[in-house]
Amino acid sequence: MSCRRGALIVLEGVDRAGKTTQCQTLVQALQQSGREAEIMRFPDRTTKIGQLISSYLEKKSNLEDHTVHLLFSANRWEMVPLMKQKLEQGINLVVDRYAFSGVAFTSAKPGFSLEWCMNPDVGLPKPDLVMFLQLNPTAAANRGEYGTERYETSAFQRTVSQRFEELMQDSSINWKVIDAARTIEEVHKDIKLLSEDIISLAENQPVGELWK
Ligand code: TMP
Repeated sequence: MSCRRGALIVLEGVDRAGKTTQCQTLVQALQQSGREAEIMRFPDRTTKIGQLISSYLEKKSNLEDHTVHLLFSANRWEMVPLMKQKLEQGINLVVDRYAFSGVAFTSAKPGFSLEWCMNPDVGLPKPDLVMFLQLNPTAAANRGEYGTERYETSAFQRTVSQRFEELMQDSSINWKVIDAARTIEEVHKDIKLLSEDIISLAENQPVGELWK
């Protein structure tokens, strides 16, 4: 019996672009249309590595910049067996942030090249689709104050945005830019259509390897 694999769908974007809401809404919509779908998010703060990351983000502990980058990557690698298993079972995975956030955030720090930042994530399961929720700094500012976690400042987020723009030049990745300044429903409509298309396309193809 051959089982059609699930699609690996990633949502990326700067803070407050609505990624988490859109991931949840997409999973619900896919399930309602009879497809199997589950949400995953990175960092996954439930594992031991994830707890180290969470404490760092909450500024309860300090970690050296290279070290924390590698922990974020390790936090993805530790989930790979489960991700592959679910995809093989035909479950579509909707992922809130992935290696692209890893690279965009660390390379926004002084002294980090995109290349160095990408290396630890080379070979991860390659997303079939990466939707980038785009929101300009003014629109983001209108959505209220940033939180209190590390990285949640407008200056840092501007640099992160520039790094994402550089990553989006890579044509080996199926990037789609979504205008996140619209209503939740409008944004969802686009995301759902793109996801349904990629689910049909991906089901007969093997899962790729990221940046290889
Ligand atoms: P969250 O608010 O979506 O839980 O994300 C936590 C923060 O961690 C967010 O500021 C982005 C950042 N981050 C990295 O620096 N590297 C990574 O690999 C990931 C996934 C997130």
